[in-house]
Amino acid sequence: TGAGAQSPRVVLVGPPGSGKSTTARLLAGLLGVDLRDTDTDIEVTAGKAIAEIFVDDGEPHFRALEREAVTTALAVHEGVLALGGGAVLDTLSQAALEAYTHDGGAVVFLDVSLTHVAPRVGFNQARPLLLGNPRAKWASLMEARRPVYERIATHRVDTDAKTAAQVAREIHEAL
Ligand code: S3P
Repeated sequence: TGAGAQSPRVVLVGPPGSGKSTTARLLAGLLGVDLRDTDTDIEVTAGKAIAEIFVDDGEPHFRALEREAVTTALAVHEGVLALGGGAVLDTLSQAALEAYTHDGGAVVFLDVSLTHVAPRVGFNQARPLLLGNPRAKWASLMEARRPVYERIATHRVDTDAKTAAQVAREIHEAL
């Protein structure tokens, strides 16, 4: 934690529906620090919603915008930062996260089971990767990504059957 002059630096990672955005907002409030969300940064840069970027420009273009958003945010942001669920797959973003934790930043993996996430994901157009068969697609994303979330995280919180407010308090106490 160093000299204590810096504000806390926390990144939230985890699959779609794990509560990253809501938890990040509540945690930023508890800590009294700024909030940033790379999905929002990407939408501002592109001038359109993420679902539209996928449709108009394709996933590779979205991932390129995401890499830029993640590496920029990690370099400049003080406070709480929420990443999109797939942001951890890019090797440059992984290297930036490793540097961030090396500098004392915390990376928190919001873990959740299919049973608990199912009511929250896939029922709108906002999550293009889950369209069609949201539960099966979520499960296969989570299976592929879990080792990455676990490797890059400094903390893991089991969010099953907890409110975002409880999760935010738990992280606040663990930091
Ligand atoms: C994605 C998750 C989304 C968004 C995009 C891709 C993913 O963010 O970045 O649709 O690959 O898991 P959330 O995790 O906030 O849903």
